[in-house]
Amino acid sequence: MSENISELDTLRQQAAARAFIDDALNNLFAPEDQALREAREAPSRHNMPSIEISPLQGRMLQVLALACGARKILEIGSLAGYSGIWLARSLPPTGKLISLEISPEHAQVARASLEQAGVGDRAEVRVGPADQLLPTLAPEAPFDLVFIDADKDSYPIYLDWALRLTRPGSIIVADNCIRGGAPLRAEASTDSSTVAVAAYDQRAASDPRLLSVGVAMDEGGMDGFAISVVRSAQEVGGA
Ligand code: DHB
Ligand code: MG
Repeated sequence: MSENISELDTLRQQAAARAFIDDALNNLFAPEDQALREAREAPSRHNMPSIEISPLQGRMLQVLALACGARKILEIGSLAGYSGIWLARSLPPTGKLISLEISPEHAQVARASLEQAGVGDRAEVRVGPADQLLPTLAPEAPFDLVFIDADKDSYPIYLDWALRLTRPGSIIVADNCIRGGAPLRAEASTDSSTVAVAAYDQRAASDPRLLSVGVAMDEGGMDGFAISVVRSAQEVGGA
């Protein structure tokens, strides 16, 4: 009995430490300005789901964009424009973010958020189903960074498109690749979105054209990104 209580105490302390660290890292490395705060709050004002990335994930996207010298970024899934602000702010003034959004209403909210954040000049939200818009993007490729954060069932298809629309050295990031561990479990799932994300993770991990890592940095380590670098032909077969 007393052993159970002390185990419970340890778990509580770990959870509290985890929450403290998450808050501290967000505040230290990814403080939000007014525009980001408003974009984070926009979903609740517009009857949209509040499922945007964390500030620290936004900062991570910026670190990756700067590391690959991104000038052209493609986002699949705009939601209210929160991640779009982080991405567009990592671009030089002549850079361009193209963000694809299936919902016209969400696209309007995203455009307003991007405008408010001072990056309306370099961010364009295009409305339609991604599987119809992606084939039209070839003339604007290659993209230096692709961020996938849309319907999970289509993740494997989005990875195919990301590979077509990038170049060696480009970075492909997908949100929600961990989802509490479900897509990582060996046993087969009956949930179509879990199956699709599992296929995405498998391919990110094993496709010879990619060098990838999974990063559990959201929801207290329960969710996070898969981050992939597109390898050059010479690199394929290396590390
Ligand atoms: C869901 C989608 C997301 O992109 C996310 O970050 C969290 C949850 C969802 O559809 O439930
Ligand atoms: Mg997401």
